[in-house]
Amino acid sequence: MNNASQTFEYQTINEEAHGASVSEMRSSSAILKLFFGIPKTLQVVGKDNDTFKGQLAKFWERFCEITSDSGTLTIKLIEGRFFVNESLCKITRKTPALEEGISRWQELGVGGVEIRYTPESDSLAMFFEALTQKTDSGATVEQLREMLLDNAIHGIRIFSVEEVGDDQSLKEQRRLQMRRQARTVFFKSMRVVNDITSNSFASKEIKLKQTSSVVRSLVDQVIEDDSALVEMTAIKDFDDYTFAHSVNVCIYSLSIGVKLKLDRKRLSQLGFAALFHDIGKVKLPVEVVKKPGVFNESDWAHMRNHPAIGAKSLLTSFKIDSQVIRAAIVAFEHHMNIDNTGYPVRSNRRELSLFTRIITVADTFDALTSGRIYITDPIPPIEVLRKMLFRMQNKFDHLILKVFIGNIGLFPAGSLVLLSSSQVAVIERNNPMTPGAPVVRIIGDRFGLKDEVELLDLSTEANSQITIKRFLDPQQSNIDLKRFVYKDLPLAKE
Ligand SMILES: [Fe+2]
Ligand SMILES: [Fe+2]
Repeated sequence: MNNASQTFEYQTINEEAHGASVSEMRSSSAILKLFFGIPKTLQVVGKDNDTFKGQLAKFWERFCEITSDSGTLTIKLIEGRFFVNESLCKITRKTPALEEGISRWQELGVGGVEIRYTPESDSLAMFFEALTQKTDSGATVEQLREMLLDNAIHGIRIFSVEEVGDDQSLKEQRRLQMRRQARTVFFKSMRVVNDITSNSFASKEIKLKQTSSVVRSLVDQVIEDDSALVEMTAIKDFDDYTFAHSVNVCIYSLSIGVKLKLDRKRLSQLGFAALFHDIGKVKLPVEVVKKPGVFNESDWAHMRNHPAIGAKSLLTSFKIDSQVIRAAIVAFEHHMNIDNTGYPVRSNRRELSLFTRIITVADTFDALTSGRIYITDPIPPIEVLRKMLFRMQNKFDHLILKVFIGNIGLFPAGSLVLLSSSQVAVIERNNPMTPGAPVVRIIGDRFGLKDEVELLDLSTEANSQITIKRFLDPQQSNIDLKRFVYKDLPLAKE
């Protein structure tokens, strides 16, 4: 994977630690867990209990570590991410108490709290107690503030969602973190597919552990925000496209699965099946798989075998369980088409599994937009979607196709476009309510490319005059798209 290793270089440049030090980050996530865990303990044991007192003492210990200079701790929640003292807090896994805390804040309209050091640690205990009290449904931040006053709780301020929501610098931190995380997960997934494919080629038994962990990370990221991952799928110029194709298909499939409200277990199974839908190709002659031109009859004869080979490889390479069986079914069915006009040819009509119907949409979209598989030239995404919706409509589950288009938009993240303002932009993310007016990153204009980018939401009133004129082919436009997808250029100052 020569080109993939070039890609990893891009990754290392970008994945350096940003902002807070590792120990600061640890303290931040520890204090968050305590902050949301203490009210839960309190619900069970009461204020005079030693466990509660011990947790409160630990909270103050962490508090002092974090706030040694200022004596003030702020916790803010912006678009599902926590910021501790204005720095994004990295949480590897959300505990149930944290999840509960987030939904409680959302329910009350709380966007953040500020805690100033006060010798009366009783105040804090009372605050936690107040947080656990049942409030009327429809309770507001105002009522919480009144409760603080009524109970003479000092040193604590509550912010509403609106008060913290306008903080552009925190929003930008979150955006960059999502993008960095997406890159890390994407390249890790490529490595795992590469390793497993090689093991499968050598007919070795494969351990599920690393695959499960990478699929879990992909699921987490897609659930939270899939735009940054979808943007990664826009890069198509890998020497060996097979691995990137598998990861792309996995990302698209998971984004459909999330919209169909599949639970985490199902999403993991779907992601696993998508990553290995083409595993049968490793056993085909390499000159067929990598053939740049149009296939002849003999190439097709080979290619038609990969679904059956893939199903067999999965069943023999992994310890068999329901996830592996589902993946084997997908590998076998993914070129059959819903109208059974594809291959392998069957004498009886076959109903395709839900996973196959999802993965077929994702697979075809990636194959046609990349232009690497079976065809000679990539087709712009909007034309691919049109083709899938009309000329190929009998091959897909229509509902799933519509869910996919609704999610990815007419201009998928990562696409290079020319705007009516003569500016060149990369699509940042789709606006589901206005599919023709996404959020874009302006990377250049008629005078050339810039070293800074500008974020523009085309769905807003202020930008309603600007429209997308057409897609640009990065190669023909001589633009290295990787520079704008694998790196984060600074935002231009207004
Ligand atoms: Fe395939
Ligand atoms: Fe495929």
